[in-house]
Amino acid sequence: MRDVRGRVVLVTGASRGIGRRVATRLAERGAILALTARSTDDLTKLLDELRATGAQAEAFPGDLTEPVARERIVSGTIARFGQLDVLMNCAGVCSFGEFSTSTEAIVRRVMEVNFFAPLEMIRLCTPYLTRSFETSRNGWKPAVVNVASICGRWGIPSMSEHCASKHAFVGLTESLRGEFERFGIDTLLVLPGLVRSDDLQKHLLRNEGKIHLNFEGAQPPDEVADAVVKSLVKNRVEKAVGFASWGVWFGKRFFPRGVRFFMQRKVWKYAKREKTETMA
Ligand SMILES: NC(=O)c1ccc[n+]([C@@H]2O[C@H](COP(=O)([O-])OP(=O)(O)OC[C@H]3O[C@@H](n4cnc5c(N)ncnc54)[C@H](OP(=O)(O)O)[C@@H]3O)[C@@H](O)[C@H]2O)c1
Repeated sequence: MRDVRGRVVLVTGASRGIGRRVATRLAERGAILALTARSTDDLTKLLDELRATGAQAEAFPGDLTEPVARERIVSGTIARFGQLDVLMNCAGVCSFGEFSTSTEAIVRRVMEVNFFAPLEMIRLCTPYLTRSFETSRNGWKPAVVNVASICGRWGIPSMSEHCASKHAFVGLTESLRGEFERFGIDTLLVLPGLVRSDDLQKHLLRNEGKIHLNFEGAQPPDEVADAVVKSLVKNRVEKAVGFASWGVWFGKRFFPRGVRFFMQRKVWKYAKREKTETMA
């Protein structure tokens, strides 16, 4: 069990969705919060809410794809709180659409936000997390929590860029888990399925995918935030969150042909639909 009381947690993607909810839950558990995202107004609103409950928090707005902003966020956190104990990588973007109609600009943007930005945040935070371990007592260990996606374990049709970025992120996480053992840093992975985050469809880089995704039936972000915080507290190395995500995770291990058939069927369905529409 990891007690976050009095520990400094840097949460990316804190302006809305999963990151915002993770921040409020950590505040309830007594963590000290450094919050970041681009939307200054949303961060200020969250900061006011948290401080009204007596929580200690500070906002460091910035675009994580910019090296200067990343430096400012991490050095600001250290200047303000003097330490860093947990990095929560919640920021991300999604692109929903077919590979054949996508562009280089989109895939590069997705990789920048979902892979290079958290990777460089981890690099910047590592010395402080290492110091957290070296100065900790009672066996407390610092952690990096990477909120990836089940798309990082199985490639979903109509989401090639997103799946590529999340596979890269999952690979990075697994590799660092070994490397960071010698620094005493735990590296945890959370894999949500489709989540009904705030205005999710509005924030998609593209929203023209052809496979059917049940956005209305998607998981509530509160459920995912609970699971993310539980992963940190219980030190769960990898957690597939929700029935759909768990089904794909489990299916990949034990029934890969079944999962492949399920995904192909989704594509056949829209191909058939398109053919019928063309003929009509
Ligand atoms: N929603 C889903 O269906 C789903 C499923 C599986 C995994 N996930 C993953 O879970 C994480 C959170 O998703 P969510 O549903 O909470 O998404 P969301 O509601 O769209 O929130 C994304 C967060 O990332 C921040 N962000 C985006 N681009 C940024 C940038 N360039 N610099 C700094 N911050 C940036 C956004 O803040 P600003 O816009 O203010 O910068 C926002 O706070 C993501 O990594 C996502 O891939 C989501």
